[in-house]
Amino acid sequence: MSRPRFTNKTILFLAASAIALLATYLFWSLADDVKALLESRMGASPSPSAETIVNAVKLILVGIVGYLFVRALNALFFGLAFRLKRIDAPTLLRNIFTIVVFTILFLIAFTLLFPKVNLGALLTTSAIFGVILGLALQDTLGNFFAGISLQADRPFQVGDVITVGAQRHTGVVEEISWRAIKIRTFTNHVVLIANSNAAREPIEVFPRGNLNARQVLFNTLYTDSPAKTIHVVREAVREADNVSEKVAPIVRIRNLGDHGVDYEVKYWLDDYAKYNDTDALIRQRIWYAFRRAGLNFAYPTRTLYVERRTSQGVRDGDGGAIAERLSAVDIFAPLSADEITLLAQAAVSHVFAPSETVIRAGDPGSSMFVVHKGRVRVQVSENGRARTVATLNEGDFFGEMALFTGEPRTANVLALEETEVLEIGHAAMKRVFDTNPNLVESLSFIMAERRQGLASQTDSPATGSDSKAGILSAIKRFFGLHQ
Ligand code: CMP
Repeated sequence: MSRPRFTNKTILFLAASAIALLATYLFWSLADDVKALLESRMGASPSPSAETIVNAVKLILVGIVGYLFVRALNALFFGLAFRLKRIDAPTLLRNIFTIVVFTILFLIAFTLLFPKVNLGALLTTSAIFGVILGLALQDTLGNFFAGISLQADRPFQVGDVITVGAQRHTGVVEEISWRAIKIRTFTNHVVLIANSNAAREPIEVFPRGNLNARQVLFNTLYTDSPAKTIHVVREAVREADNVSEKVAPIVRIRNLGDHGVDYEVKYWLDDYAKYNDTDALIRQRIWYAFRRAGLNFAYPTRTLYVERRTSQGVRDGDGGAIAERLSAVDIFAPLSADEITLLAQAAVSHVFAPSETVIRAGDPGSSMFVVHKGRVRVQVSENGRARTVATLNEGDFFGEMALFTGEPRTANVLALEETEVLEIGHAAMKRVFDTNPNLVESLSFIMAERRQGLASQTDSPATGSDSKAGILSAIKRFFGLHQ
């Protein structure tokens, strides 16, 4: 409690006491006059009588003065106990003291002011009232008695750290009153837990004078020696602030984890209420110790199997199948086994879903394709409607027209089912043409035929450049081959 608040409270208390005493004194000295006045106003045998009313007012005034007196007595008694014997009485004990002394004083005043009333009989006949009151005060009384049992058992005291309730509130106990336990959390919030709730829930107590332990976790790479790690970390944390000197910290392997070796440091604190700071300090010390000792924290790791690819991305395992496929393509029949292998290495495989477009008419293109697995359909668009020109199966090729002439793609090519195609680029084909000039001729023959097919489907007449000779010279020009 801060000094000004204490002074304010005292002044307020003294002022209230002075007013109450003055009021009581005045009423007492004027009581007979008030009684006479009431009797003259109320007439004969009124109920309640004027004397009863005056005495009731007296009782109220005495009650107020008595309450203030008991509060003063309380402050004096427990204040002295604290000053002389250093006994800090719990709030609950102070409250009980106030209630008991006040009740005794009130009953004495009641008996003196109302000597004719049989208090025992009054209390007995008010049993029903007592039941009603009891029900209404069920929670309050539950808290009150739970508070008494907490005080009697003393499982924890003001200043201890506790964790309580289903929500696991953790903080330092500030007060145990007749109604609730007040704790201050480590985020400086105040949490009030009703005594009756606290009595039902498990409470974890970290007593102030007790050597409470904490665990801090860390890990290392599997290549770091456990003996060295344990020694380095133990030495690093043992002298950290708030780590108790009475028990040496324990460092041990907790688990052989997925990513590395998991360790825990178990250490004991002088002041448990500062465990957050101390945990952080321990982690910091471990980091620096690791740096000095060349130890490594473990990152999440994965075992990777690296797949080696040949140039252009054809998988090693598929190389044979691809070479076999290419050697079965009729235009590549004149190529030697080595040339086929080179071509296979240059080929890039692509997989298309059913109905996916492999080639779009009008696009530029500088590669041709061999159907490795599946089927494709060659389509041209006529008056906005798709017309199928040809269906190509495994071992057939397409896309050669744009590749060999440099013109845009002449048709759409779509996968009919899941289809794998092998793409062969300009450079690889040029190599083949350089060593096999005759190939150009057989190719130009096939292309001329295909152009004829296209012309018949699209009603566009075949031109001179669509003839075999025209295509042959176009290819030679495009690839810079001798005419
Ligand atoms: P390109 O013009 O590069 O792209 C579309 C491809 O469809 C074309 O090369 C040919 O490979 C192919 N194509 C065009 N017409 C026919 C046809 N009549 N028969 C088979 N394939 C064709």
